[in-house]
Amino acid sequence: MNKLALYCRIGFEKEVAAEITDKAAEQGVFGFARVQENSGYVIFECYQAGEADRLAREIPFNQLIFARQMIVVFELLTDLSAEDRISPIIAKFQEIQPHFNLKQSTEIWVETADTNEAKALSTFCRKFTVPLRQALREQGWLRFKEVKKSGITLHCFFLQSSACYVGYSYNANHSAHYMGIPRLKFPADAPSRSTLKLDDAILTFIPKEEESKRFTAEMIGVDLGACPGGWTYQLVRRGLFVYAVDHGKMAASLHDTGRIEHCPEDGFKFQPPKRKRIDWLVCDMVEQPSRIIHLITKWLVNGWCKETIFNLKLPMKKRYNEVQTCLQTLADALAHHQLKFRIQAKHLYHDREEITVHVQLKDANKG
Ligand SMILES: C[S@@+](CC[C@H](N)C(=O)[O-])C[C@H]1O[C@@H](n2cnc3c(N)ncnc32)[C@H](O)[C@@H]1O
Repeated sequence: MNKLALYCRIGFEKEVAAEITDKAAEQGVFGFARVQENSGYVIFECYQAGEADRLAREIPFNQLIFARQMIVVFELLTDLSAEDRISPIIAKFQEIQPHFNLKQSTEIWVETADTNEAKALSTFCRKFTVPLRQALREQGWLRFKEVKKSGITLHCFFLQSSACYVGYSYNANHSAHYMGIPRLKFPADAPSRSTLKLDDAILTFIPKEEESKRFTAEMIGVDLGACPGGWTYQLVRRGLFVYAVDHGKMAASLHDTGRIEHCPEDGFKFQPPKRKRIDWLVCDMVEQPSRIIHLITKWLVNGWCKETIFNLKLPMKKRYNEVQTCLQTLADALAHHQLKFRIQAKHLYHDREEITVHVQLKDANKG
């Protein structure tokens, strides 16, 4: 019970390894990340007993940028027979009984890595879930009808149909999505597929219960690099009026809403119209990360916006270091101007060679 399994986008295993090693060290936990390139996951082995469980509770999941899910796992179960995979899995779960109250379990997710090869197992996973859930219930586990925040989710992470890791994650500190992937529906009237990136970002960064207060019809947004309008669409859908900045063409359907003004200008030079206080700045321009950080800093420091979501395109190499440098530069600049802020960053499912960052300025009076 001394390993973490972390899921990620294929090709980002080294970034996850670097990140979990750093985050674990911050908690005084040391270990070794096993990386298999293009596998879609990383196993982090802790040197001391019980420490994987501690990391799963104490590393705030929303501070991990590259990991999609974080699970405490046991050693790999291999040679599972097609006739009876359930008995060894139940036996493994029984092993943790002395350490953990499985009566707190609320769900079982039978998962694979997000790679083409592993996904070939997804039909098997779906079918296997039914008898496994039944067998777990017979043990007196998975008794809750609703997902409890204080509970745990059980995981079977299949590498092949004959090999899986068995483990659990804390509902209060994990991705609430199966395989760490939100299932978002592409809105038929959205102007571009990249609309899902902002939808995913809002789902990830803004608590659901706050969404209707953080996006209102009284608010104004600016979208830098807006065309054809997928991100603007998400803001308009949530009620905002949006200045859409781009030399390109915006979708006619967005003009028809009467909730946008298209500004065919350079996003690096654009300034908010006079006497307008911008609530949300979003930015999806394909540019060097350092230029974007400089631009976002300018908006926040000048008080031009209160909250922002933007993308940082990742370089080919040293992606983890570049992300750390960019976020540190931003944090240092905001702190230098005595601003109180919260920064979150995530390699979202809909992000490829980029990450998405959210910054919220906090009212200094509220602390
Ligand atoms: C990835 S696309 C944005 C897609 C958009 N978010 C959507 O969902 O439809 C990037 C856009 O940034 C624009 N862009 C790039 N550099 C720009 C700049 N300096 N000023 C304004 N727009 C820029 C491009 O014209 C392009 O339309």
